[in-house]
Amino acid sequence: MNKKILKADYIYINGVYCQDYAVVFDTQIIEVGDVEIIKANYPDCFVEDLGAGSLLFPGFVNTHVHLEFSSNQTTLQYGSFVGWLESVLIAREEIIQGSTLEVIKGAMNAMLSSGVCAFGAISSYARELEALATTKQKVVFFNELIGSNPQSIDALYADFVRRIEESSCYPHITPAIAIHAPYSVHPVAIVKALRLAKEKNLLVSSHFMESRAEKEWLGGSYGEFKPFFEKYLGVSSSLCSKEEFLSLFRATPTHFTHATQIDEEDINTLKSYHHTIAHCPRSNRLLGSAPMPLAKIIEKEIAFSTATDGLSSNYSLNILDELRSALMIHSDIQLSTLADKLIESITKSANAILGLNGGVIEKGRDAHFVLLRLSNLPSQSALLSLWSILHNERASRVYVDGEVVFNKV
Ligand code: BEZ
Ligand code: FE2
Repeated sequence: MNKKILKADYIYINGVYCQDYAVVFDTQIIEVGDVEIIKANYPDCFVEDLGAGSLLFPGFVNTHVHLEFSSNQTTLQYGSFVGWLESVLIAREEIIQGSTLEVIKGAMNAMLSSGVCAFGAISSYARELEALATTKQKVVFFNELIGSNPQSIDALYADFVRRIEESSCYPHITPAIAIHAPYSVHPVAIVKALRLAKEKNLLVSSHFMESRAEKEWLGGSYGEFKPFFEKYLGVSSSLCSKEEFLSLFRATPTHFTHATQIDEEDINTLKSYHHTIAHCPRSNRLLGSAPMPLAKIIEKEIAFSTATDGLSSNYSLNILDELRSALMIHSDIQLSTLADKLIESITKSANAILGLNGGVIEKGRDAHFVLLRLSNLPSQSALLSLWSILHNERASRVYVDGEVVFNKV
């Protein structure tokens, strides 16, 4: 591929907005620096000036999405976690059937048009692989293990292993493992899956402490989950406590999703075992959960991503919509600090969590870029993250592997 050079008013490099910078790339980044130095180093190359108000970011990363539920709009119940879960059990097949190739391609394009160049797809059946095979985006494919009934473990586990194999056949798709949740997977199956993750060097993710119901069920088999488990699974006590669940992950740094109900001790445990968090603010709001304690997570320097979750618990997969909601939800965090942290959470942090080679505009990284625009010249650089989030409904242009894959018309 021929070398290309882009010059922007600002290039976002590792948390800093570098003014009048340019980047040289083919499929990977070759050099980035002051535009005059780049012009001197590459005198025969055309430099495309992205124009007044241009900001160039590394490709955004959405670490947690359920594409197989993309057809949901008004089927699932919102407002209460257990009510929602019950509606998922009832309508699961109908929603998955409705999530056709075209629907899933539409969902991936919606992410792309908001700048998402890579995503973590949680999958319980692997039926969406056909659609994922067609995207230029990088995918970490989290094959999900679910099932608390000891009699079903062997069959469910065999199917899970088959799906891991099936998702290992595509160059842009990295197979990985998702444990559904502490309340829904038998500990024996979790141990087997984590052993497999070690053997095959696979990333691991799990929903964790998403709702008050989950906290009460794991903490003493009481609360809203009790009648749910009695009705659907014929059991009246939890298979494991929160502490027992977390202890299974001691040797496996894991990407835990939601974590809205974690306390100080949990935060310390997450930190000491190098776990990370997927923060899904709109999903949490829509399913009746409290906001994730983001200020504490930032204070303790736990790595976190901001992610959309699926259309099963959201109204769009636009990552910029997610950041705008996060800005409004976490009113206890100073505004520009929060905006900076949110941008980091969908670039450098999310990329590192998924083990990919984007996330930062520096030599040797994959050439994934997102162009955002501000129509008025910014009066100061301290608020660039905030303004970028507020004033860009979608990306202006997106590059994956050095090629334009989206252009706003
Ligand atoms: C299960 O398969 O055991 C299960 C599924 C969803 C919620 C709870 C349990
Ligand atoms: Fe999820």
